[in-house]
Amino acid sequence: MNNNSLLADSVVDSAAVESASPAVGRSQWSTRLAFILAATGSAVGLGNIWKFPYITGENGGGAFVLLYLGCIALIGIPLLMAEILIGRRGKHSPPYAMKALAAEAGVSSRWQLVGWVGVITGFMLLSFYLVVAGWAVAYIFNAGSGAFTGASGDEIGGMFGALIGDPWVTTLWGTLVLAITAAIVIKGVKRGLERAVGIMMPGLLLILLLLVGYAMTTGQFARGFEFMFSPDFSKLTGTSVLVALGHAFFSLSLAGGGMMTYGSYLPKRVSLGKTVMTIGLLDTLVALIAGLAIFPIVFANGLEPGAGPGLIFVTLPLAFGQMPLGQWVGVLFFVMLSFAALTSAISLLEPAVSWLTEKRGFSRLKAGVLTSAGIWLLSLGSVFSFNIWAEHKLFGKNFFEVLDYLTSGWIMPLSGLAMAIFTGWIMSRAATHDEVGDGPGYRSWRFLVRYIVPVGILAIFLNAIGVLG
Ligand code: PHE
Repeated sequence: MNNNSLLADSVVDSAAVESASPAVGRSQWSTRLAFILAATGSAVGLGNIWKFPYITGENGGGAFVLLYLGCIALIGIPLLMAEILIGRRGKHSPPYAMKALAAEAGVSSRWQLVGWVGVITGFMLLSFYLVVAGWAVAYIFNAGSGAFTGASGDEIGGMFGALIGDPWVTTLWGTLVLAITAAIVIKGVKRGLERAVGIMMPGLLLILLLLVGYAMTTGQFARGFEFMFSPDFSKLTGTSVLVALGHAFFSLSLAGGGMMTYGSYLPKRVSLGKTVMTIGLLDTLVALIAGLAIFPIVFANGLEPGAGPGLIFVTLPLAFGQMPLGQWVGVLFFVMLSFAALTSAISLLEPAVSWLTEKRGFSRLKAGVLTSAGIWLLSLGSVFSFNIWAEHKLFGKNFFEVLDYLTSGWIMPLSGLAMAIFTGWIMSRAATHDEVGDGPGYRSWRFLVRYIVPVGILAIFLNAIGVLG
């Protein structure tokens, strides 16, 4: 039976939700570890290694890290649970999973909008994500060629400027990233996604540990540590809380459709609580460890931690160019960054592909090629933001920045709010209990998702738009 026809009726009782099970050829992860690797692969990405260090630098260090950790623990992790739970119980791509659960709860099928927003957000995110991922891949070769060795700050700044300033070259690297991502996704859950994360995630963790080991030898490890962990609240800026919240969403891959879709391939026997905690902890650890690998290198070379998005593309290469074995440390660093980006990119493409195969009965090949073509076109806007369209700005932001700001700053937190209300107030206690299982974990989760998450998100928003002063 076509999944779609099953869901076409707006009244689907819970038995129907059950029978909309993976039966209809829906893939499943082979093991719990496979899911953990894939979901952690989605979470750990450019967000952890590129964005987290530079926004921490821009927002003054320790106090921002504390804010971020608070957002992760009180808002991010409960929502990660909510999103994976919706996917697993709904057993379809995000729009249909939401529709099935809305029917189970006896509410309007308009709730599927939340699923749609997930698919569309994933699409938008991937269009600019692949551009930065392309820079990372290009930098493996830059580092390997020894171009950074002994180069001055101006020269390295010039190389980065030349890369992003060239629409052809950046398009080429972005296209390569998209092609690899699509090839993995087209192969399917077991042969594509599982295999890719099985190689890249252990590789990434190994390289990360090597790099921290290296950072410990720079003599500035303690300073890096202090920068990240001794809070000075006077260094926070007015927007720091919103940035911390948006980044908690971005980093945990919330509301981008990926976690919901991955959840829909998760067998019922796997315990949600432990699994979600593992993913959340690993994502946070990787961000903190990436900071501990990067800041000591920055300080040891007398560089500026608040250098912004160029931190790892300009500042770090400058350091690589000065240090012993820096050429190879640089290659390792950018290989790690590329792995991290690819395992996230596949989770951004999967929701749309999963939806098209379900809705239209397309093969994964056809769905993958079509979706990628659309994403590729949209990505040109982000490529051009640094060259031919650099002067075109909306509220002072270029196309790339507008997409980033709209998704992390607004769409993701708002759809997080909707998911919290849906799992906390709309779905029955019996339904969520059935997914999460008994124990203190369930009660704390339900409390957080019903009260703390919505109030927290709203307060941060009202604050951002100036209502709370
Ligand atoms: N979590 C990824 C990162 O930190 C980005 C991402 C967001 C991936 C949303 C999927 C969905 O880089």
